Amino acid sequence: MNEDIILVIGSNGQLGSVLTRELQKVHGYDNVIASDLYVDPCFSGIFEILDATHIADIQSIVKQYSVTQIYHLAAILSAKGEEKPLSTWNLNIKMMLNVFEVARLSIVNKVFFPSSIAVFGDKAPLEHTPQSVYLNPATVYGISKAAGENWAQYYHANYGLDIRSIRYPGVIGHQSMPGGGTTDYAVDIYHSAVKQQTYTCFLSAETRLPMIFMNDAIRATIELMQAPKENIKTRTAYNLGAMSFDPSEITAEIKHFYPDFQVDYQPDSRQLIANKWPKSIDDSEARNDWGWKPEYNLRMMTTEMLEKLKEKYNNIKLK
Ligand code: SER
Repeated sequence: MNEDIILVIGSNGQLGSVLTRELQKVHGYDNVIASDLYVDPCFSGIFEILDATHIADIQSIVKQYSVTQIYHLAAILSAKGEEKPLSTWNLNIKMMLNVFEVARLSIVNKVFFPSSIAVFGDKAPLEHTPQSVYLNPATVYGISKAAGENWAQYYHANYGLDIRSIRYPGVIGHQSMPGGGTTDYAVDIYHSAVKQQTYTCFLSAETRLPMIFMNDAIRATIELMQAPKENIKTRTAYNLGAMSFDPSEITAEIKHFYPDFQVDYQPDSRQLIANKWPKSIDDSEARNDWGWKPEYNLRMMTTEMLEKLKEKYNNIKLK
């Protein structure tokens, strides 16, 4: 049997770091090449420094290792992207098209390209946002993801390239920190709780958003990539649902464990982004086509987040 060789671009990121470890388990430690702009000293495995805006550098890694699958996770997220709209567009689109082109011209036969709930704008229903709906994203990040979805569909239709994608909700995990997103509060809040600090939330108490626990997000990604080709009917990106809550609800859950935990609210520009995003997602196509089913709800996630972060901070203290 031919083994797949996997290249992960953006392996230091919130999702990339956890996904890389899982891919090492699924495909074999020596069959996964991690890559990012700099070396993470905690990383263990094969690693290459890679700036994905340079197509020749991606090409040479693909050639050197005979890569057959690429997970392209590098991007500037929604909130950070608004600081420099044009360079965000240039960077996100350039990296993505470089990856698609390298795949088209090489032995790479499968690509994972993440999309996001940021593709939706105020023309989409906020509740149970459907898979197929008019997309009018309000952030550059969202515009670049919506364009990316259409490019993915184009490469599939015209070159037969097997690109698969998920519109991730906010991803919450204890292993890594998000950077520059609108849903980041839902990770930060757990860290404050464990450190027994008051948390200042940049979204208002009633801002409900779709979210997913890291374990579910990773499992969804691998399940989508392993699904038989004929099951993949959506060649833009699949809606993916797991849970929805607002800052007041996550605070109430945390208070079961830390009754004195306090949150104050200082909404900033991220509030305006969140206001246009879905509150809940209709993911029936992902469920029907490749059997998606989330496992974690807010209670289960909170229990695991607090337990794991407590361990992490205790270990830091012991060192
Ligand atoms: N979590 C991302 C963000 O907030 C959404 O994809 O930007």
